[in-house]
Amino acid sequence: MKLLFIGDIVGRPGRDIVCAEVPRLQAERNIDFIIANAENTAAGAGVTGAICQTLLKTGVDAITLGDHVWDQRGFDHEILDLDCVCRPANLPVACPGRDHLVVEKNGCRLAIFTVLGRSFVGMKAECPFLAADALLKKLNGVANAFFVEAHAEATSEKQALGWFLDGRATAVLGTHTHVTTADCSLLHRKTAFQCDVGMTGSHASVLGREIEPAIARFLDSMPRRCEVATGDVRLSATLVEFDAAGRAQDIERLSLPQSLWNFRVLQPMFPCRMIVYWNPRWSRRNTFIWLRIRTMLRQCPTTVLPNVSILLRAGLSA
Ligand SMILES: [Fe+2]
Repeated sequence: MKLLFIGDIVGRPGRDIVCAEVPRLQAERNIDFIIANAENTAAGAGVTGAICQTLLKTGVDAITLGDHVWDQRGFDHEILDLDCVCRPANLPVACPGRDHLVVEKNGCRLAIFTVLGRSFVGMKAECPFLAADALLKKLNGVANAFFVEAHAEATSEKQALGWFLDGRATAVLGTHTHVTTADCSLLHRKTAFQCDVGMTGSHASVLGREIEPAIARFLDSMPRRCEVATGDVRLSATLVEFDAAGRAQDIERLSLPQSLWNFRVLQPMFPCRMIVYWNPRWSRRNTFIWLRIRTMLRQCPTTVLPNVSILLRAGLSA
């Protein structure tokens, strides 16, 4: 079995690359479970119900959140109706939303939950170690694989949590810093571990935000609005392969650049509202052609006008 975990998705650029790349990635890598952290998807802070639904349509099975969970007004009510979304498990019991999810696919039941770290994280949370321990005990027998997201700032806290859960969790993968760490490993008792999966969004940025105002804030300490950056968009994710007993077999770090075929990349080159493209290899798989065209249409910012260009690129790979 394979699970893919997509690191902190930031703003529209992050959402767009998930919509464009996840269906293809799922098919090409034969992935069973796709989990995504969406706490920064709404203009870089928080998430909305509509964004969750968009991500779920791409093939994402479960959405996790972190310390920005309540940044968007009204999400504390919206989360109640979102079956595939869980808030951090170690928030106070009175907080709305599910503290874990169980997703069943291809005969495997995968339990999913997030714990917030307490070092250098602003939000008040219960002990992540005790919370993870309690949930794993509660879910014992309910699921046969366990995914734990360590949403924390300190690498020491995340490493300690990984070793604490070694042999009980299938994977302990970190988020929150937006910077991918090169420490993918299988711990002694077959738990896949990585301190931070990294960010899905603009990498020509400071943690997904525009560079200039971020520098200025450090120079004069004055508050400034830092918009979500748009350059060099990449999807950061980690792929974990595990056996029927929930023991990790392999862990792989992925960093995918935005496809050349993305509408927002092509639009400046072709002055039109819609680009229909076709690859001869797809002629054998009509459904795939239409899937690609539909993906493009979803990204079209306005109604499709008669000004349509047909872009043929024979032999080019998508
Ligand atoms: Fe965070």
